Amino acid sequence: MSGSGTNLQALLDAAADPAYGAEVVAVGADRDGIEGLARAERAGVPTFVEKLADHPTRDDWDRALAGRIAGHRPDLVVCAGFMKILGTPTLSAFPVLNTHPALLPAFPGAHGVRDALAYGVRVTGCTVMLADAGVDTGPIIAQEAVPVLDGDDEAALHERIKTVERGLLVGVVGRMAREGWTITGRNFRFGRAGR
Ligand code: GRF
Repeated sequence: MSGSGTNLQALLDAAADPAYGAEVVAVGADRDGIEGLARAERAGVPTFVEKLADHPTRDDWDRALAGRIAGHRPDLVVCAGFMKILGTPTLSAFPVLNTHPALLPAFPGAHGVRDALAYGVRVTGCTVMLADAGVDTGPIIAQEAVPVLDGDDEAALHERIKTVERGLLVGVVGRMAREGWTITGRNFRFGRAGR
């Protein structure tokens, strides 16, 4: 993650119950000094920081990041408010989940809430998807709608979306851990193949 880490906190809280089925084995960030790292430290989860600026190329950074992640042997990587596009080294090594504060394919990119407000939609929401090499273009796993209220500004609307987004992300990660999942083309299904 890259920021306040409230999505991470929701995952840490859920994973505190063994029945949830998933545990957070490590938390990585692309910058120092963010609240998300402090949340991980308070939960006793190992952290690491891999900054793009510390590498000569984006590909070098991505390979270093993939190596740091691999050291923790995760079954799944979750971008919980991670504000960088991942490259092939990371995407080909792990299944990667992403979460976005809009109903994709509408309003992809770094300003999904602002763009939805500017367009004037009356309903927006959030999307949990698999990450691919594009910007918010991966196969969609789950979405939930959030109404736009009269007088909403970007901050107020984003806060209401994030409340829903946290529940959606926690639900998807838990089901993936407990039920398994398959992907055929862009078609994501919970449940193990052959069941
Ligand atoms: C989320 O809305 C995420 O979708 C977006 O940034 C927000 C991250 O929030 N990319 P937090 O750091 O989990 O509080």
